[in-house]
Amino acid sequence: MATKAKICVIGGGMFGEMHLRTFRQLENEGRCEFQALADINEELLRQRRSEYGMRTYTDYVEMIEREQPDGVTIATPDHLHRQIALEAIERGVHVFVEKPLDVTAEGCREIIEAADEAGLLLEVDFHKRWDPYHLEMKRLAEEGHFGEVEYGYAWMEDRIEVPRDWWPDWAGESSPAWFLAIHMVDLFRWIADTRGVAVYATGVKKKLASMGVDAWDSISLSVRMENEVSFQCQVSWILPDAFEAIVNQGIRIVGTEGIMEVDSQDRGAASCFADVDRMQTHNLGFFRETKSKAGQTVYGGYGIDAIADFADNLQFLLDGGSLDDLTGKYPDGTDGLEATKIVQAAHESLATGRLIEIA
Ligand SMILES: NC(=O)c1ccc[n+]([C@@H]2O[C@H](COP(=O)([O-])OP(=O)(O)OC[C@H]3O[C@@H](n4cnc5c(N)ncnc54)[C@H](O)[C@@H]3O)[C@@H](O)[C@H]2O)c1
Repeated sequence: MATKAKICVIGGGMFGEMHLRTFRQLENEGRCEFQALADINEELLRQRRSEYGMRTYTDYVEMIEREQPDGVTIATPDHLHRQIALEAIERGVHVFVEKPLDVTAEGCREIIEAADEAGLLLEVDFHKRWDPYHLEMKRLAEEGHFGEVEYGYAWMEDRIEVPRDWWPDWAGESSPAWFLAIHMVDLFRWIADTRGVAVYATGVKKKLASMGVDAWDSISLSVRMENEVSFQCQVSWILPDAFEAIVNQGIRIVGTEGIMEVDSQDRGAASCFADVDRMQTHNLGFFRETKSKAGQTVYGGYGIDAIADFADNLQFLLDGGSLDDLTGKYPDGTDGLEATKIVQAAHESLATGRLIEIA
């Protein structure tokens, strides 16, 4: 290994912390050099610096120019991904962007073109692909066990604390489809190896509106895919505080020769403690925190693996590998675009009440 991949993070909020844990973990393992975090919130930067030990900046452009990283990861609110990704690419830096790549197909195309022209890696965080149960679904599909996939159904539902407490200021700019369905749309597309053709969606605005948050409560998407495949997805972020997990989720796929169902929430581990006013399930596949024998914190899970994949791809390129060698081996800009096209069409359908053909 020549030099270690140098990495910076932009946006250190709720999910940005997952990026910090990942690169702290990888640096501890000697798999990257974790340089710095940029965020506009100075108080947050102070907290994150004391916990994760990287340098901090309030201006991400200044961070990129001073640190000269090989790659940056972007975990800012959805509507800011486009500008930040373009500015990073303009400075010759590989990028990893939280889902959705952008909230418009046009924005995704602009980012893809910029990365292609600059010969840079563009990866999207669709971490459902790293869940071992979903990897197994993909393997079985690739080996032909489903025969021809005919349809799929997925659900993903957050507890209400997500739009109410995490970020009420930008929940209205997002939606359960941008925040949740996009994961399942990508997962199904990836496993069934297909693309969206037309979308019809319905949604409800009741609960959050009554609490002063102007956002969709729930959205149901019906997607026609290529080769007569169909995909239904129901998403919401209004589950009661007493629900057993922060997210309820699962997927089922039916083909000419078989069926597979995965409950991605309830993995069979449940608890109830006096100091928590609900039953809880534990999805340790997504994230876990343990201690090494030397007492060092160790992070793991598919939420970490998906982000670590970017560092591994960067290292592969630094060690002389080419982008062509990586084709099809990570969620790229085109995957980001195809998922965005479906979710954007769903929002157009919500606005017009019509079936929307995808260009
Ligand atoms: N992969 C997943 O499962 C997953 C889960 C949650 C969130 N996300 C995605 O991650 C992204 C961030 O979500 P979140 O929940 O962490 O939101 P958040 O609001 O908690 O964090 C966003 C952070 O970005 C910072 N920020 C805003 N503008 C900035 C700028 N110009 N420069 C630098 N920092 C800036 C904010 O100060 C904040 O700390 C979103 O795109 C979201 O959809 C992905």
